[in-house]
Amino acid sequence: MVAKKAKIVIVGAGIAGLTTAYRLHAASHNLFDLTVFEAGNRIGGRILTADFAGDRIEMGATWIHGIGGSPVYAIATEQNLLEEPSCNWERMDGFPSDPLTVAEGGFTVNHDNLARPISSLYRHLMDDARTGDATSADGDPGVRAYLRRGLRQYQATRAANTNTGLGDDTWSLEAIEESLFAMEECTERTCTSADDLSDLNLSAESEYKEFPGDHITIAKGYSQIVEHLASALPPGTIHLGKKVCLVEWCSGDGSSPDGSPPVRLHFSDDSVVDADHVIVTVSLGVLKAGIGKGDGKGIKFDPALPDFKSKAIGRLGFGVVDKLFLQMETESREAFPFVRLAFRQDLEENGSKRHVSKIPWWIRKTESICPIYRESHVLLAWFAGKEAMHLESLNDEEIISGVHATLDGFLPSIKAGCRIASVKRSRWGTDPLFLGSYSYVSVASSVDDLDLMAEPLPRVKRGEVPRLQILFAGEATHRTHYSTTHGAYYSGIREADRLLRFYNVGN
Ligand SMILES: Cc1cc2nc3c(=O)[nH]c(=O)nc-3n(C[C@H](O)[C@H](O)[C@H](O)COP(=O)(O)OP(=O)(O)OC[C@H]3O[C@@H](n4cnc5c(N)ncnc54)[C@H](O)[C@@H]3O)c2cc1C
Ligand SMILES: *[C@@H]1O[C@H](CO)[C@@H](O)[C@H](O)[C@H]1NC(C)=O
Ligand SMILES: *[C@@H]1O[C@H](CO)[C@@H](O)[C@H](O)[C@H]1NC(C)=O
Repeated sequence: MVAKKAKIVIVGAGIAGLTTAYRLHAASHNLFDLTVFEAGNRIGGRILTADFAGDRIEMGATWIHGIGGSPVYAIATEQNLLEEPSCNWERMDGFPSDPLTVAEGGFTVNHDNLARPISSLYRHLMDDARTGDATSADGDPGVRAYLRRGLRQYQATRAANTNTGLGDDTWSLEAIEESLFAMEECTERTCTSADDLSDLNLSAESEYKEFPGDHITIAKGYSQIVEHLASALPPGTIHLGKKVCLVEWCSGDGSSPDGSPPVRLHFSDDSVVDADHVIVTVSLGVLKAGIGKGDGKGIKFDPALPDFKSKAIGRLGFGVVDKLFLQMETESREAFPFVRLAFRQDLEENGSKRHVSKIPWWIRKTESICPIYRESHVLLAWFAGKEAMHLESLNDEEIISGVHATLDGFLPSIKAGCRIASVKRSRWGTDPLFLGSYSYVSVASSVDDLDLMAEPLPRVKRGEVPRLQILFAGEATHRTHYSTTHGAYYSGIREADRLLRFYNVGN
């Protein structure tokens, strides 16, 4: 008699799910009956390479965050994905070492006297947070209060009347410093996905790890990474258009009475699949929707997820980050600059005698607008939080008029010679398969919650034999590399290895 193969089902064909499948297949030589169910009509999840105006762009994951030791970089080099492709791509080689910073109204901010001191102050503060040398301000656990105290201390000790070359008498030195500092904070919002930096847990920052070395994009497209992983799987392993709605499992110590596998998946098309082990890799947003008031979004569990799991899901932060691409038409031969935007922070409120702006609120936390490679006519701007959600709700005309107003306010001479021909933006916040972009450690949570996210179910006490009915992978389950593609990759390796150990396979 041939022993029945253990049936392993992976939910989600993002990089975490595909890495799990890749590893299990490579290490077990068909020992398992392996299936991947993906709700969408494509693989890759938050990795999605697309075309726009003839250029190759990334709608989701963009960077290899540090090439030193990155497993994503290892795949990219092995598979020759960094070689010059036949088309132009989001190369992001336009970053000058001293970028043009323009203040609202259109004057160029002096780099040496103003822009650089504030950006190095900012970098210093965040470096201290990352190395664990930061102390919270007035008992406030958030990053914002800590940063703001740093700015106040800086302003109290720097020379009062340095010749800064403001070039515009509607700005005070303090006002421009505010604007420049806020600009750095906007970058932080995009990097972390935290809408409000008060919600970003300062003491957790020191657990977050980054690889050393350059940050680069992938010439042949980020999607090639997941294509490579998928191509190693036997044909028919991945099923697209299969949305899991409900996961039934056995939380008690009994297994299913009729000896059938312990886990049963219910799909939106009413089909049902039984499995010995299920690895759930959906986003934290989809898990949050599942523990919330049922509105059909998210994944449900029966019995419901135990408290330790649902509380970790509830506490961790999951924000929205979106990218907006603009195709520019211009008569000028001059290349569009890489420009950082210092918005006024002292705008008119309720008729007070402050400044007025025609630029809509949803674009006022955008840190920069830059060509996706030197001389490109495609420009990119990043959005986070409420601003990103609003961007997702606008139509193309509203976006174009908002960006035109911004260019008028910052680069009137360039604006005069160009117009926006078309736009393309991501919608990660409203897409029901993601419901956000990536996770962060909020002040309500701690890095231990990331470990709780990774714990399999049913939970067993130390010394007990694990049963591994439901396992969890995905970026939001990695303690030190959450929010990234390589964190998701590592989580897939971790869960595959957990099952391989369980079956005594491999090393
Ligand atoms: C705008 C943006 C920019 C980013 N930039 C970077 C970057 O520069 N560098 C970096 O390292 N990372 C970046 N990231 C983060 C990175 O993309 C993610 O951390 C990573 O791709 C997550 O992979 P995952 O496998 O954990 O999840 P996902 O990619 O979300 O995979 C989960 C899969 O589950 C599927 N699914 C959802 N619900 C169901 C269901 N009910 N049934 C079946 N399947 C379901 C989804 O469709 C999806 O394919 C960025 C993300 C975004 C959105
Ligand atoms: C402006 O008016 C709104 C609505 O009346 C109020 O909620 C808000 O606090 C006011 N802001 C200031 C700065 O006075
Ligand atoms: C923040 O994170 C740290 C480290 O993970 C944790 O100890 C702390 O409880 C969290 N919350 C606050 C409010 O500091």
